[in-house]
Amino acid sequence: MAKPKVFVTRIIPEGGLKVIREYCDVDLWVEDLPPSYEVLLEHSQACDGVVSLLTDRIDAHFMDSCPQLRVVSNFAVGFDNIDIPSATNRGILVGHTPGVLTETTADFAFALLMSLARRIPEGIEYVRNDQWQTWGPMLLMGQDVHHSVLGLVGLGRIGVEMAKRARGFDMRVLYTDMYRREDLEASMGLEYASFDDVLRSADFISVHTPLTAETRHLLSKDAFSKMKKTAIVINTARGPIIDTEALTEALQNGVIGGAALDVIDPEPLRADHPLVNMPNCIVVPHIASASETTRTHMAEIAAYNLLAGLRGEKLPNGLNPEAVGTLRQTLPRTFEVL
Ligand code: GLV
Repeated sequence: MAKPKVFVTRIIPEGGLKVIREYCDVDLWVEDLPPSYEVLLEHSQACDGVVSLLTDRIDAHFMDSCPQLRVVSNFAVGFDNIDIPSATNRGILVGHTPGVLTETTADFAFALLMSLARRIPEGIEYVRNDQWQTWGPMLLMGQDVHHSVLGLVGLGRIGVEMAKRARGFDMRVLYTDMYRREDLEASMGLEYASFDDVLRSADFISVHTPLTAETRHLLSKDAFSKMKKTAIVINTARGPIIDTEALTEALQNGVIGGAALDVIDPEPLRADHPLVNMPNCIVVPHIASASETTRTHMAEIAAYNLLAGLRGEKLPNGLNPEAVGTLRQTLPRTFEVL
């Protein structure tokens, strides 16, 4: 009996790949750069499942071009690259990899905050450029992190972990979110605030919200104008939540103090972009979840989501479980139940 055909759009850690290889006929994209949309279509059109990355656009046209497709398993917690309503309408299950990357991402967001506040990248450059002559009373003075105010834009899983880290540094933590978490206010000492109050009061503003039509350019020229002149913005969520042009201007004109960005719009950002060369800005290449352990767990979850979808079952980490009831019924079963 034939194995299900799947396209895996990049090399992912072996812990997940070996599971997929055991049960599926795998077409693995081995290039360093992602397949173009056209190549993605070409490789997926005869597939029963796809393991996608956040760089792959999975839209209605893609789904219509892949008549056998039952499941899209995204190797990421974010899923703004996938049109979920279109998948649900077509009876295609979609999975993602939440949970396992929460603490790893929060660790990284906090590391970005610390690095910029205490000017660590500038210190490294200083030594590398052989500028270090003596101990200097005024040398590379930064901002204190302890007892400062952290403003969280979004209090999902990663936001909560960021708050925990901040509490360890005796920070006051404000958060703004669609949902109020009175339980966490009481247990962790968090303060609920309006978006504007977070902008006005925080020394550090860390973004932890998904990218949606509502959050695109949430941090705009207007938002920057409300922040403290010394405010530092941290983004480990999605680039387009911040208006890059407005941020560049805000940093160039001293409207805010700095930005530490794991994600940026566009990605990749070229080295000649002004943000890359500002001392008060850190840009790193979307690596907040990139620890060996976490990426391996993400690969395993992606593999188990894929296999469940190929079986037509609810995914362990599914985004549209309601699609189980409407799975493409007309499909011939081309492979043995896994
Ligand atoms: C990474 O950005 C992810 O969404 O997992």
